[in-house]
Amino acid sequence: MNVLVTGGAGYIGSHTCVELIEAGYQPIVIDNLCNSSAKSLQRVQQITGGQIPFYQGDVRDEALLNRIFDENTIGCAIHFAGLKAVGESVEKPLEYYENNLCATMTLCRVMAKRGVKKLIFSSSATVYSGDNEMPLRETSKTGNCTNPYGWTKYMGEQILRDIAKADPAWSVVNLRYFNPVGAHESGLIGEHPNGIPNNLMPYISQTAIGKRDHLNVFGNDYPTPDGTGVRDYIHVVDLAKGHVAAIEYLMQHTGEGVFNLGTGHGYSVLDMVHAFESVNGVKVPYVIAPRRAGDLPTCYADPGKSREVLGWTAGRDQNDMCRDTWNWQSKNPNGYDD
Ligand code: NAD
Ligand code: UD1
Repeated sequence: MNVLVTGGAGYIGSHTCVELIEAGYQPIVIDNLCNSSAKSLQRVQQITGGQIPFYQGDVRDEALLNRIFDENTIGCAIHFAGLKAVGESVEKPLEYYENNLCATMTLCRVMAKRGVKKLIFSSSATVYSGDNEMPLRETSKTGNCTNPYGWTKYMGEQILRDIAKADPAWSVVNLRYFNPVGAHESGLIGEHPNGIPNNLMPYISQTAIGKRDHLNVFGNDYPTPDGTGVRDYIHVVDLAKGHVAAIEYLMQHTGEGVFNLGTGHGYSVLDMVHAFESVNGVKVPYVIAPRRAGDLPTCYADPGKSREVLGWTAGRDQNDMCRDTWNWQSKNPNGYDD
């Protein structure tokens, strides 16, 4: 079955293409490369021995989507394409709403017209309200997002939920990712943020390789075991496999399903720093800095529903995450520019 993968050249999309091919699916990618390189897809082909038809362009370009559907028989779609930088979304809200929501709506319109009504959406744990008890379940309260990026995910889910309610032929799966980290074990694909990384793991690995002087640990006075923020880090290959499991669910159900993709384990910032140092034999100098606005003390998933309904669990542990991040970083210090 052909799977349309929007944003397939990106970090999570490229890893998912590997798992799709390995599970016998054929990814067809559309990406405008605004935050990625087409080299990632060449590397996916190198890893898998498969071929990936690639359309460079914007998901909001309805004519291009129509051409893709004319030229390929699509069975379902995975919609990764979107802008994802939290801070930038606060500065450029219109760009975020325009890109993330219009892409989702254009894609759904074309899919409906073509009678392909099976869609997986990249949502985020950021849709959960900050006042929930841990662990977060799919039934936990959502909303009260602290930035436009978070709202685009919240609204994106809602759009799909409403579409599935209005037309029972639709099957949509909203996947709420926790904190994706790591890279494919080959070291051929991984995450390469532009500029100064916002997220912890790329910052740790860029510090270890000497690109950054030290890591700022944002707060050590949280109500957590060591005072630093606790998150549910999930290996990107496990996350990618979660999409394959979701396709199987999508093909057998209609309506809307929502699933957490997390491990259920919370690790603190210092846990991650110390694991990274000991697994890789490197130093990660750090200083304690003030808290970052908008951060929660603790955030982790209850992955029980994904385990029971999708038959999916994350098999990779913290050591795997640290080792594979470093393998990618040290082999590709400048990402795909090398
Ligand atoms: P990424 O930036 O590496 O991948 C997104 C891809 O979409 C990029 O290749 C980009 O060029 C492309 N893109 C963006 N807008 C587009 C458009 N209008 N048309 C065509 N292509 C477009 O990000 P990622 O980390 O792989 O994230 C994938 C998805 O998962 C995003 O929707 C993101 O919001 C969501 N998500 C990511 C995380 C995370 O921590 N990485 C967490 C939760 C949710
Ligand atoms: C952040 C976003 C979230 C988004 C997710 C994508 C915010 C407030 N939240 O989540 O909306 O969905 O990225 O992956 O931006 N940390 C440091 N030093 C650093 C970087 C991070 O100490 O240089 C700490 C943070 O305070 C946090 C933990 O590391 O406790 C994880 O941070 P990060 O990787 O940015 O992820 P989230 O904040 O969970």
